[in-house]
Amino acid sequence: MERPGVNNDAAANSRLPLIIVGGGGHAKVLVDTLRVEKRRILGFVDPRPSLPPLLDVAQLGDDSIINASAPSEIRLVNGVGSIGCTSRRREIHENFCAKHYHFETVIHPSAIVASNVLVEEGAQIMAGAVVQPGSQLGANAIINTGALVDHDCTIGSHAHIGPGVTLSGGVIIGQGAHVGTGAAVIQGIKVGAGSIVGAGAVVIRDVPPGVTVVGVPGRVIVKVGGLKNKFRV
Ligand SMILES: CC(C)(COP(=O)(O)OP(=O)(O)OC[C@H]1O[C@@H](n2cnc3c(N)ncnc32)[C@H](O)[C@@H]1OP(=O)(O)O)[C@@H](O)C(=O)NCCC(=O)NCCS
Repeated sequence: MERPGVNNDAAANSRLPLIIVGGGGHAKVLVDTLRVEKRRILGFVDPRPSLPPLLDVAQLGDDSIINASAPSEIRLVNGVGSIGCTSRRREIHENFCAKHYHFETVIHPSAIVASNVLVEEGAQIMAGAVVQPGSQLGANAIINTGALVDHDCTIGSHAHIGPGVTLSGGVIIGQGAHVGTGAAVIQGIKVGAGSIVGAGAVVIRDVPPGVTVVGVPGRVIVKVGGLKNKFRV
């Protein structure tokens, strides 16, 4: 579907049949979204054998099945979510892009995406999410169910903004970071690449790359040799 304000270049072939990569919960939600958009879904792939269907969509086999279709014949949808580390999702995106496959950009019709928002290839904006003007969503990023991304935010590639998260204006989320369910980040904060913000955290200071932050206010948990030291950022 053409969306005003959204960079639709990546969706130029968007009526091609789709294969979902991954057979878990996030993939199921995507199937439902794509059904609303009346997209043809060939099936899903997953390394785990004999998974139950995703709604009415059956498993085709493992990821190698994708090689049977040329990149010009299908679009992929990254069905792998994250509950913390986003590396598996990133790996899938990068591996198939290296083989010249393209990932469909998915935007639920109930999402509100303002004008002047840049959405890169393979980004996913789930039901009820809101993205305000001047924001940019990197390739393969997820704005999950009901999340609010206020004006002028930058969401790095492969980052996951979890269900019900609130990002205030001008927040920068680094590549591959995960912002957990219901967390809030105040205006102008930078969350470093690969960092994890725990569910329900309130982030009021910049977060360095590669750390985990939990609590109100957000504190970094550093795990060294099994010890966990918490300090305020
Ligand atoms: C932050 C998180 C990744 C930590 O997971 P973990 O590395 O397995 O850490 P642990 O469960 O061992 O917890 C470590 C410590 O942090 C605390 N903690 C973990 N998550 C917390 C949170 N969200 N808020 C406050 N404290 C938290 C634990 O109580 C524990 O404290 P302790 O050392 O005093 O006992 C995880 O709890 C979380 O919040 N994940 C987000 C899930 C999410 O967004 N899901 C959405 C999927 S769509």
